[in-house]
Amino acid sequence: MPKTGILFKYKDFLPVTPQTPLFTMGEGDTPLIRCDRLAREVGCGELYLKFEGCNPTGSFKDRGMVVAVAKALEAGSKAIICASTGNTSASAAAYAAYCGLTAIIIVPEDKITMGKMAQAIIYGAKIITITGNFDQALEIVRTLAEKHSITLVNSLNPHRIEGQKTAAFELVEILGDAPDYLFIPVGNAGNITAYWKGFVESYQTGRSKQKPVIMGFQAEGAAPIVRGYPIAKPETVASAIRIGKPASWQPAVATRDESGGIIDLVSDAEILAAQKLMATRAGVFSELASAASIAGLLKLSRQGMDFSRKRTVCVITGTGLKDADTVLKDALPCSALPAEIKAVEKALSWG
Ligand code: F0G
Repeated sequence: MPKTGILFKYKDFLPVTPQTPLFTMGEGDTPLIRCDRLAREVGCGELYLKFEGCNPTGSFKDRGMVVAVAKALEAGSKAIICASTGNTSASAAAYAAYCGLTAIIIVPEDKITMGKMAQAIIYGAKIITITGNFDQALEIVRTLAEKHSITLVNSLNPHRIEGQKTAAFELVEILGDAPDYLFIPVGNAGNITAYWKGFVESYQTGRSKQKPVIMGFQAEGAAPIVRGYPIAKPETVASAIRIGKPASWQPAVATRDESGGIIDLVSDAEILAAQKLMATRAGVFSELASAASIAGLLKLSRQGMDFSRKRTVCVITGTGLKDADTVLKDALPCSALPAEIKAVEKALSWG
């Protein structure tokens, strides 16, 4: 039996029955990177990045998807459906392909990064783009899943949350306890809910001595939980968290309150700067939504919150490789030189 894969490793903590098919595409067990250079810049004692971009389809969604798809198979389902800002759809399409299911995905037009769209296409999903946003797409798939015999694999599906909570288990295992603070981007609010569930279960079963303070961050133009009302037209460069009416709104608020944390917002400029800082100081290329966690830590640190004696984890939810275009678009034009040593030395100011 494989030692990796969350269905195998954590089956005692997941809704796995003797009838649940167990399989893995290698999800979970992602790197926890200690970043001392970055820690110094953000004024943190001990800083780690949980790099979920190393999952099979490049985001944390795979942890939840493997459980949701296993349960769909167990129930005899032939097809799965989701709305997405790009990562859920990539994950659903991949796991459906692996298991021989049909994946139907509904995504907002023009707001999905090219890498994510390419994934859904190459994995063979049935793709429907709508002129509306993620929240409208989610409404549509909810209704379709009620009307037709198809399994909804958005995080409204509780099996998704179950799978995603395993990231908290990994943190407790590797660090020997829960961290003091966990910074995490918030979109549809499933992941913050899942981490909290994982930390609470770790604590209740005696695997950790403490629970972390959870610090959630939304993008300024898509911050319904911070503002306290749904945003009809959410806007942000971080397209993955361009969400105005999160499905797990209430559990996210409960997580904030029970953990003694906050849900705050960061601007697009802060997100872009944090992505760059993480790349140049820690060698981690995250997608923009993921950088909201670092942007949040920087913001609070600048406001005077003291993390110098704290162990802090930032969840880096997805890889920046899915959205390389955003980086290249702003790169300096680099014209080719003749293939000569002298020309290269001159360009490097060495000659
Ligand atoms: N980071 C990334 C890279 C995401 O793709 C998402 C959500 C989030 C953070 C926020 O997580 O929704 O659980 O609060 N992406 C969803 C999608 C909405 O369709 O891929 P959340």
